[in-house]
Amino acid sequence: MIIGTPKEIADLENRVAMTPASVKQLIKLGHECLIEKGAGERSQFSDKEYEDAGAKITQTAVDLYAQADVIAKVLPVTIDEVKLVKEEQSIISFFYPAQNEELLSALNEKKATVMAMDMVPRISRAQKMDALSSMANIAGYRAVIEASNNFGRFFTGQITAAGKVPPAKVLVIGAGVAGLAAIGAAQSLGAVVRAFDVRPEVAEQIESMGAEFLFLDFEEDGSGDGGYAAPSSPEFREKQLALFRDQAADVDIVVTTALIPGRDAPKLWLEDMVHSMKAGSVIVDLAAERGGNCDLTQKNEKIVTENGVTIIGYTDFPSKMASQASTLYATNIRHLVDDLTPDNDGLIDHNMDDDIIRGVTASREGAITFPPPAPKVQAIAKPQAKEKPKELTAEEKKAAELAAFKEDTKKQFAILGAGALLLWLVGSFAPASFMQHFIVFVLSCFVGYHIIWNVAHSLHTPLMAVTNAISGIVIIGALLQVGSSSWVVIFLAFISILIATINIVGGFLVTRRMLAMFQKS
Ligand code: NAI
Repeated sequence: MIIGTPKEIADLENRVAMTPASVKQLIKLGHECLIEKGAGERSQFSDKEYEDAGAKITQTAVDLYAQADVIAKVLPVTIDEVKLVKEEQSIISFFYPAQNEELLSALNEKKATVMAMDMVPRISRAQKMDALSSMANIAGYRAVIEASNNFGRFFTGQITAAGKVPPAKVLVIGAGVAGLAAIGAAQSLGAVVRAFDVRPEVAEQIESMGAEFLFLDFEEDGSGDGGYAAPSSPEFREKQLALFRDQAADVDIVVTTALIPGRDAPKLWLEDMVHSMKAGSVIVDLAAERGGNCDLTQKNEKIVTENGVTIIGYTDFPSKMASQASTLYATNIRHLVDDLTPDNDGLIDHNMDDDIIRGVTASREGAITFPPPAPKVQAIAKPQAKEKPKELTAEEKKAAELAAFKEDTKKQFAILGAGALLLWLVGSFAPASFMQHFIVFVLSCFVGYHIIWNVAHSLHTPLMAVTNAISGIVIIGALLQVGSSSWVVIFLAFISILIATINIVGGFLVTRRMLAMFQKS
């Protein structure tokens, strides 16, 4: 098939849906690539790079639409571009079918196959095609960079000869993909980061990034399906607003990303909160596209309030980092095309039984197929909320402890009885010298089991050093025995050396991998 990418015609759009790297991959799948002259320029990809990668350049969009079987682009085609679309042509782009019904019908009349990159289901297998997450990740990072650009102070705290500089305090509201990227960026710039989300399961992720999760003392789980939030109750919202009101005078930067797909952005940063912020503070409202989380946000504008707070409502953050955004988006498209080309033979098999292909297809063969049914595979599962243990009275607690103690004691007596019986049986047949070693062996197994099983997870790495030392002792013992005249002893010594060596080498490999996770490049 011929896959073609035209130049994006929207003013604010710098991204491109095909990069020289993705061209090479698409060719490997058996496809031919076409790109309109200058389509990659605003993302810093020259026509020459595309040609070197194996793509053909067309002079105009008209030529491109006429020759390609599949059009891959970033934004939905405009009504003008629809005129260029051929009968039964496939179009892959962001499409937002729920908001673009007219456009969808226009394309459906041409029997076009419309694949909406914003409809990739949130299932594990689809993560590599999840263009919304790729873009949100960039937006979260860029929001912090934009905030720092408009903030007149350092993010990191410093002690200088001229005085002490406190670190900036950043509050991130909504810790989905964009929120977590914003937390990461703000942390790496040295700010003190706090975050809030209605889904309690993200608390651990936030804390693992070094930020503080703002807990709300309220019994409500805000998790919905597929890793998204559920709408909050009015009581919860009131509590949440009270929490934000407390934070408003203290924080310097607020990045808001709260959204439930298909709904307007909830208003979470109200006018009075903006007024209580310090002069010079910055709010970046990533939800500006859907009305904004802040009362005063103006879409695609940067405004400064009377009390000196800058509010940024840009909706084109990924486009402001076009080269990076295009690279990720083109990779997402390439993975989708990979799914559509199961035999790597350049032929598209539009398998509507595939959850991902079904999910993205909004119209096909003259029928509108949006909205898709729920994927057969469970969307990225909502982690089970931990059940809160029932509060016990003091007497119930005592009774439960006593019952547990009795149960444990019974078990211990049974084990001791079985052990004594085993020792008596072995002792009745084995020589006395063997028994001496055997008893030491049994006791050390027992002590070792209890020590190792009770070590906290956080101490497993130091524990590995101890087991390495023990394995070293085992190897020395086995080396002393390996020259024995008995084949049984030689065999046992060999097995000991082998297992102890695996333990030591494995320990080092695991440690190396763990250390590599903390290395920056
Ligand atoms: P996401 O769905 O992964 O994250 C949204 C988060 O908000 C979720 O964790 C959800 O639990 C949370 N949330 C929902 N309602 C909330 C509430 N009432 N209070 C607190 N938290 C709440 O979405 P993603 O992909 O991170 O995108 C976030 C936002 O960024 C969206 O509004 C998206 O449209 C926007 N975006 C903006 C761009 C721009 O250039 N301005 C570019 C890309 C995305």
